[in-house]
Amino acid sequence: MKYLLIFIAFFSFSIGLSAADDKSKEIQMPDVFISGDVNKGSQLVETCSACHGVDGNSISTDWPKLAGQNQKYLYEQLKYFRDGERMNVLMMGVTPYLQTLNDQDLLDIAAFYSNYNATVGQAKNDEELLALGTQLYRFGNMKEQIPSCTSCHGVYGQGNSLAGYPSIAGQQVGYLTSTLKAYRSKERNAGESSLVMQSIAENLTDYEIEALANYMHGLYQ
Ligand code: HEC
Ligand code: HEC
Repeated sequence: MKYLLIFIAFFSFSIGLSAADDKSKEIQMPDVFISGDVNKGSQLVETCSACHGVDGNSISTDWPKLAGQNQKYLYEQLKYFRDGERMNVLMMGVTPYLQTLNDQDLLDIAAFYSNYNATVGQAKNDEELLALGTQLYRFGNMKEQIPSCTSCHGVYGQGNSLAGYPSIAGQQVGYLTSTLKAYRSKERNAGESSLVMQSIAENLTDYEIEALANYMHGLYQ
């Protein structure tokens, strides 16, 4: 949505005041996300594949898969890293590079990774852990003020691409665990959407996080 607004602002500006005054035109714009260019994106990711894989499927449990991730979500996160709002020791290595890229470049990178399919993960076959993960993911826990995850991330973990909710299906366990903990400690705090996850993670114990991470890793679309 932010990108769309920037686009509208730029468009109105470039065609002059008459259009800028005509607010009704903006409201009638369809609510679609403008896609990046996959081919252009492919030329910008050379330094990323060491960790995220050539097709966005990382090989370390601690490094997130980007393959199949929703484009809008990827685009937002890339801007946070570039602009220093989201911090991570390993991503800091590419921050100077990201700073040489404009918004359109970041959108193209997002399109590139989004275009691949995430590899399927295998949940650990621990009965108790799986039962808890399934229960929490699907139904939440009213008493502990944990909402069901399906309402935003979908039954199969696909997320919601228009709303910019990330896919978590098949995501790496180590990353899911560390990122839920980072929301809980409020260390991950880039953008307003992170507040939603902070308030949810606040109520999760370490064991519940382990169970959820295991369950999400095993989801596929
Ligand atoms: C040295 C390893 C490394 C390199 C190189 C690297 N990344 Fe990352 N990336 C990570 C790690 C680790 C994280 C998780 C950060 C966290 O926990 O907050 C991450 C997170 C991300 C995320 C957020 C994923 C999510 O699900 O929120 C995006 C997008 C991303 N990287 C894109 C890139 C791009 C584009 C490049 C190349 C310009 C790149 N990365 C290079 C290690 C790396
Ligand atoms: C009201 C909607 C909503 C609900 C309910 C919700 N999430 Fe989220 N989730 C989001 C949004 C939005 C983001 C992106 C936040 C950001 O930009 O940091 C997110 C991010 C995440 C991420 C990080 C993904 C990544 O690639 O870094 C994980 C993991 C996650 N959610 C797990 C869960 C789990 C587990 C539950 C249920 C206990 C849950 N979410 C419930 C909206 C929701």
